Amino acid sequence: EHQKYIRNFSIVAHIDHGKSTLADRILEMTDTVAKRDMKNQLLDNMDLERERGITIKLNAVELKYHAKDGHDYEFHLIDTPGHVDFSYEVSRSLAACEGAILVVDAAQGVEAQTLANVYLAIDDDLEIVPVVNKIDLPSADPDRVKKEIEDIIGLDTSDAVLASAKKGIGIEELLEQIVQKVPAPQGDLDSPLKALVFDSVYDDYRGVVLSVRLYDGLVKPGDKIRLMNSGSEYEVNEVGVNSPHPVQRDYLMAGDVGYITASIKDITQTRVGDTVTNADNPADKALPGYREMEPMVYSGLYPTDNAKFGDLREALEKLKLNDAALEFEPESSQALGFGFRCGFLGLLHMDVVQERLEREFNLNLITTAPSVTYHVNTTGGENKLVENPSEMPDASEIKQVLEPYVKATVMVPNDYVGAVMELCQHRRGQFETMEYVDDYRVNVIYHIPLSEIIFDFFDNLKSATRGYASLDYEVEDYKQSDLVKIDILLNGEKVDALSFISHRSFAASRSRDIVGKLKNIIPRQNFEIPVQAAVGAKIIARTNIKAYRKDVTAKLYGGDRTRRMKLLEKQKAGKKRMKAVGKVDIPQEAFMAVLQTD
Ligand code: GTP
Repeated sequence: EHQKYIRNFSIVAHIDHGKSTLADRILEMTDTVAKRDMKNQLLDNMDLERERGITIKLNAVELKYHAKDGHDYEFHLIDTPGHVDFSYEVSRSLAACEGAILVVDAAQGVEAQTLANVYLAIDDDLEIVPVVNKIDLPSADPDRVKKEIEDIIGLDTSDAVLASAKKGIGIEELLEQIVQKVPAPQGDLDSPLKALVFDSVYDDYRGVVLSVRLYDGLVKPGDKIRLMNSGSEYEVNEVGVNSPHPVQRDYLMAGDVGYITASIKDITQTRVGDTVTNADNPADKALPGYREMEPMVYSGLYPTDNAKFGDLREALEKLKLNDAALEFEPESSQALGFGFRCGFLGLLHMDVVQERLEREFNLNLITTAPSVTYHVNTTGGENKLVENPSEMPDASEIKQVLEPYVKATVMVPNDYVGAVMELCQHRRGQFETMEYVDDYRVNVIYHIPLSEIIFDFFDNLKSATRGYASLDYEVEDYKQSDLVKIDILLNGEKVDALSFISHRSFAASRSRDIVGKLKNIIPRQNFEIPVQAAVGAKIIARTNIKAYRKDVTAKLYGGDRTRRMKLLEKQKAGKKRMKAVGKVDIPQEAFMAVLQTD
């Protein structure tokens, strides 16, 4: 009865098609947020999200909607990220919903991540409500885009909502369609509690805050709950919904989306994907969780100050609660000391994790260049998994090395097919096929080593196609490649954290390139520093960083004190992100130098 008036849905789209803006309009229309509190992209509440204009985390809010049928409905809207790196967040939020709004840009049309995300929703049997957004743009062509949605995705678009999230057009029609098309949640109030944990965050005062979707039963303060996979039990302190700020409730029941706190301090006991049930009267089976995500790239994270290792561990544990795709384990480096090898879904994910650690946990970190995982068969008959280039065995012990390949689908207007193929070819890609999506757009499909696309492939793709290409990729399998490990020596000492893996045919040119970059990045010291690149014992590139002669400030005539102060200040700030290795100070950029290939 109450459930009849609940609608749980999320919004899926390709990046920048206007998901967050549409969510803003929906919040406004439903008076969830008072006009004076309204700001753009309200649901993107991390500073990082606002600065970059992207959604990183899923966000759930409750809204009230008075529909034309005269009833009041309770909507739970879950906003999700659009970037490939965060599709894990998308699949989790979809599992908590009965419907999905599919937003497609009226000028851009269907793009790679439109497809990837809508297929996730279709796989979850969600009811899909198509919206063609940005119809206010002069270049909008809603009829063409509707036809695309029909032809490519196979959805009926006869009553697709034509909207402009920017101008507030079509929002009411969308809300009505949500009422009519998205099924109400089902679930038994009298059964034992069954709630899916789809997100969680650590709060210093309340402990872990679980975001849950209830499938059966009811939960209220004072209840004894059990997390079915971990087996741990707690007493509920508070339940509520985000609207968009937390609002306490007397209870949550089957169909609801909300939060639970229970003074959970031991963060290792909570996992996204776990099922919450009653401790005294447990459900017999846990809900299906989520598939574990396989990290695609690994890099080392080290505190610039070695004494902060414990803080970094604690920060990673807390962040993992809120970012289930993050993986980490301790590692040590001769050059950098104690840190963690972390696994990420992609480079943007890695970047976001580093920034969140620094901002939310007040840490200063050095990140080493990302690397993929290699499978190494040794001459001794061993099968080794290498996540860190410095652990690659010596050439003499290697029988073969396999690296991950992805199947990359680039969707692009046909004018740019040549440019895309050239780029893929240059990145060791193997052409598979090309298929027309519609009259003028083509899907170009390549098999490419993951290591070639994790760095700057996407940027290069965008510039080669004037921004028109969109990319989707999935890891396929491991293939044998002729790869070598290149070590970097500074002042005659090997710096393990600078080692990298390259295809043999690029080894010499990349080494020269990197040695040259390091020469520019590493500050001069009062002695000459040789910079060398080596494969095994063989030096394949070298240069020298000359010794400096005088104090940096010496050349500034004494009078200008503020300028002198500024310079010293700048030097100090620069120092923060430095790591002393032997006698040489290495700045953060040095560890990333291997990334920029040109
Ligand atoms: P992610 O959260 O990063 O996945 O992006 P998103 O899909 O949420 O897109 P967002 O809402 O941030 O909008 C992207 C850009 O499109 C912003 O600059 C918006 O102002 C703009 N935009 C959104 N809706 C409309 C619209 O209806 N018309 C026009 N002209 N621009 C729009």
